[in-house]
Amino acid sequence: MKSAKPYIEEHKDRFLTELIDLLKIPSISADKAYANDVIKTADVIKESLEKAGCDKVEICDTPGYPIVYGEKMLDPKLPTILVYGHYDVQPPDPINLWDSPPFEPVIKKTELHPEGAIFARGSCDDKGQMYMHVKAMEYMTATNQLPCNVKFMIEGEEEVGSESLGWFVERNQEKLANDVILISDTGMIANDIPSITTGLRGLSYVEVEVTGPNRDLHSGLYGGAVANPINVLTKMIASLHDDDNHITIPGFYDKVEELSKEERAKMAEAPFSKEAYCKALDIEDVYGEAGYTTNERNSIRPTLDVNGIWGGYTGEGAKTVIASKAYAKISMRLVPDQNWKEITELFKNYFESIAPKGVTVKVNPHHGGTAYVTPIDSLGYKAASNAYETTFGKTPIPQRSGGSIPIVALFEKELKSKTILMGFGLDSDAIHSPNEHFGIWNYLKGIETIPQFYHEFTKLKNS
Ligand code: BES
Ligand code: MN
Ligand code: MN
Repeated sequence: MKSAKPYIEEHKDRFLTELIDLLKIPSISADKAYANDVIKTADVIKESLEKAGCDKVEICDTPGYPIVYGEKMLDPKLPTILVYGHYDVQPPDPINLWDSPPFEPVIKKTELHPEGAIFARGSCDDKGQMYMHVKAMEYMTATNQLPCNVKFMIEGEEEVGSESLGWFVERNQEKLANDVILISDTGMIANDIPSITTGLRGLSYVEVEVTGPNRDLHSGLYGGAVANPINVLTKMIASLHDDDNHITIPGFYDKVEELSKEERAKMAEAPFSKEAYCKALDIEDVYGEAGYTTNERNSIRPTLDVNGIWGGYTGEGAKTVIASKAYAKISMRLVPDQNWKEITELFKNYFESIAPKGVTVKVNPHHGGTAYVTPIDSLGYKAASNAYETTFGKTPIPQRSGGSIPIVALFEKELKSKTILMGFGLDSDAIHSPNEHFGIWNYLKGIETIPQFYHEFTKLKNS
């Protein structure tokens, strides 16, 4: 495979404008008010896949948002790569913390992106990374270099749990048959330290509701004599971690896979600067479970975090009140071999059991997902590693990530193939946060590296 660099150089302005146009559509899957925009984005992706040289592209309807499917089958004897990505994005809130409007992309230079980065919701997660694959496909078909079969499956519900995709995959095993699944929806260590993501955490997400008195009360007349649901809720939440920051839910760690000394030593070789980490976040020190390093805490260890908490009076000024109800949204990041349904049950039983008299507690499970670890001796991993060596001039470091893409474990179960996570974003690209951005260098490097993966994988598969 020839280097895609000259082609990219020639077409890079168009590659950028096309992505910018895609980023202008607010495809927020969590908010029904944007349903038309989500659907419109699927149509735009369909068109782009057709232009990139796919033979058959279809919008597949589901109980939720549509899935865009496209393929180019050269020969059934050749290997088939299935590319997955998502075209939906997170809500941009809090909108006032953005330096420029989230759906009006602008290019700005940053310390880590001296060649410029595109600032917009979805630029890195995942429209920008997904679109690298569309442009890599364009390059391979336009220059007659596509070495194998390819299938694209781009969904619109990743940020809300991929429910329809699960439904779709279970019903279309044959259509989706493949030799390897390729995803760019993760990150890498730094632009000069390429890495391949070898693990994702699982997830259990719950909402809790604490109810005290049957109505909001005057906090003077009743304060001290009845349970205040907000006081109780915060106390219950605080008790979920002990002084060493271990999670106190009985049985929570029972199935956690413990890494060997050797594996942990290998992990510790990945470059990491605590100073730089703290400085980037304006914190004085890191925090977490005793006995583990920062990189371990955010990848191979399970966690429990409150994502939102509310109740009572939060308006201007002061109102003296004991609220009838208090709420919190809690996520638990899970590791192999924790079962998210089991963990949700453990949480529910324990949380209800620690409620004091005078309140009732309800736990409402949301979605969940299973953790995933991919081996580094698979054909797919070797092909990816070779591809990075060609385009970065360095061997990539395998690294387990703390994020979740729950559908990946389902892919393995239903389609029986390994997933390769070639992410080109940086942790500092602020995905899910205000001012999300994606480096132009990263975008183009992805487009350059992906065709090399196709080439390496086909070569290894045929040898
Ligand atoms: N692309 C992210 C996941 C990710 C980002 C993994 C960076 C590794 C590195 C994905 O879109 C995402 O946000 N997933 C959610 C879970 C989902 C069920 C909402 C997450 O991790 O919170
Ligand atoms: Mn994503
Ligand atoms: Mn996301």
